[in-house]
Amino acid sequence: MNKNDHIIEVRDLVKRFGSFTANDHLNFTVSKGEIFGFLGANGAGKTTAIKILSGLSKPTSGVAIVAGFDVAKYPNKVKKNIGYMSQHFSLYDDMTVKENFRFYGGIFGLSRKSIREKTEYYLEKLKMQNFRNMLLKQIPLGWKQKLAFSVANIHEPAVVFLDEPTGGVDPITRRQFWELIYDSADKGTTVFVTTHYMDEAEYCERVSIMSEGRIEAIGSPGKLKEEFGVNTMDEVFVQIARTPLDPPIGGTDRGNSFKKQVN
Ligand SMILES: Nc1ncnc2c1ncn2[C@@H]1O[C@H](COP(=O)(O)OP(=O)(O)O)[C@@H](O)[C@H]1O
Ligand SMILES: [Mg+2]
Repeated sequence: MNKNDHIIEVRDLVKRFGSFTANDHLNFTVSKGEIFGFLGANGAGKTTAIKILSGLSKPTSGVAIVAGFDVAKYPNKVKKNIGYMSQHFSLYDDMTVKENFRFYGGIFGLSRKSIREKTEYYLEKLKMQNFRNMLLKQIPLGWKQKLAFSVANIHEPAVVFLDEPTGGVDPITRRQFWELIYDSADKGTTVFVTTHYMDEAEYCERVSIMSEGRIEAIGSPGKLKEEFGVNTMDEVFVQIARTPLDPPIGGTDRGNSFKKQVN
């Protein structure tokens, strides 16, 4: 697989819950090794899409290929090739740091030796050597999130899905978290990350912006700012998040005036 190959390919992906459409014909690709930001306000449909791409939930229609596997047909193959950090803290509070590494490493079939090496690598990287035998519940949230990220990467997955990994975390820890993300991308892991912090959108190579189940814009932060004629991703976001009842001056067709596809 070369750098330009698509590690994620999504075509006309739809997810309905009864008559409600949470993902409305999503189309996008993500390249191998890319840091892709999946943005949108609360309720836009980000977690719904991540669950489908992780093989945890079936699409209503459409196709998603992740790491070479159709998510609807081969969800278990997909799960082996990805890491997933859910929106809600996902390690075991009643286990120690070391035990969490051992548990998740075991699920992914890593040898004891490999788990020990990975545990030491991450504890040193996070400067958390002294936390080794502490229970997770004794550790502050920001540190726990960094551990959760490390555990999600323990098997060096092709893609790691991070669903609002920095929610509720202080700005300094958020910055450190992004260093971990870059480190992981440098090693060849594709990072698919949701956030509603617009400063974090700037750290991504490309972002998509979702509103009410639809992807309304996709491209690099620089290109999107240029296309929308604004200086910050925050302003891009505000323009897109407007409802059809609040159209932009000079345009009333939400579909045509907001849809942007840039590289
Ligand atoms: N299992 C479900 N059943 C019914 N509605 C759901 C379900 N999961 C999500 N939704 C709805 O889909 C919409 C998108 O949710 P979600 O994907 O969690 O958004 P986001 O992660 O962007 O905040 C919300 O309106 C939510 O209530
Ligand atoms: Mg969510």
